[in-house]
Amino acid sequence: MQRIYYMNIHSLEKDKARLTALLDDERRERLDAFRKEEDALRSLAGGLLMRHIAGGKMIRYTEKGKPFVEGGPFFSMAHSGDYAAAVVSPRAQVGIDIENTEDMRGGNFSSLAKKAFHPDELRYFNEKPELRRFYEIWTQKEAFAKMKGERLGIGLKTFSVFSFSVPPFSQQYEVGREQPAAYMRLFQNLDPYIVAVCAAESVAVESFEKIEAVARGIVLGKHANTPPVSPAAAPGRYCAGSWRGAGPDLCR
Ligand SMILES: CC(C)(COP(=O)(O)OP(=O)(O)OC[C@H]1O[C@@H](n2cnc3c(N)ncnc32)[C@H](O)[C@@H]1OP(=O)(O)O)[C@@H](O)C(=O)NCCC(=O)NCCS
Repeated sequence: MQRIYYMNIHSLEKDKARLTALLDDERRERLDAFRKEEDALRSLAGGLLMRHIAGGKMIRYTEKGKPFVEGGPFFSMAHSGDYAAAVVSPRAQVGIDIENTEDMRGGNFSSLAKKAFHPDELRYFNEKPELRRFYEIWTQKEAFAKMKGERLGIGLKTFSVFSFSVPPFSQQYEVGREQPAAYMRLFQNLDPYIVAVCAAESVAVESFEKIEAVARGIVLGKHANTPPVSPAAAPGRYCAGSWRGAGPDLCR
């Protein structure tokens, strides 16, 4: 079972100092280095979520920067704008990305799409070259990269998110023989944010929970917008737990 957590970074403002004291030295040093208050809050939220997930175990990082705890659970972190988010799975590698679909408004995201998207993705994007479509693809690519623990070197154009398994997991896709299949879910219930979660195995999503930190350091789970286990529908795409409608190779 996967659990997805998210935290509003502004909920931490009031008790920032006391909450920061709960983090390990490395994370505290990172927080100090941020010039912008919002960056520090995002990192604080990420640190608190990880602490909650690790349950007292030491948090380590791969060479490429993916955090993990020895013996599991598997997890992945992301932050954007007002939120930090995490996905946790006891038995499969996972990756998560969250993005504010209003970021880059007025920016040259079309040119970025041309540079980073696979031809199938570009075709879907070009049908309606809007930010939301851009981020639908972007978040899934990022979640896949993070599941694998990769960075930009992954070869973004070499794979299409439309080939991933999506509920009801009728299809598998492998980027090269050595690499695992990817099972993808896209959540659109935190509008205007989009959350993509990728897993190496088809694990059911148990919950999508809002987390709040309190000064005593206890991190409390609060159900909000529950249970958006089936993503809210993007027009013609992800409806009632199964994929339908538009998009190349999307709806098997
Ligand atoms: C490293 C990378 C994954 C971070 O992404 P980002 O958008 O800057 O930041 P996010 O908020 O989404 O994620 C940050 C978190 O990812 C985690 N992370 C860092 N490196 C990672 C890696 N190699 N694998 C998995 N997770 C990683 C960390 O926990 C980090 O949080 P922290 O700094 O608070 O500990 C990103 O820079 C990258 O290289 N992505 C590759 C995929 C890509 O290029 N996607 C573009 C889509 S078209």
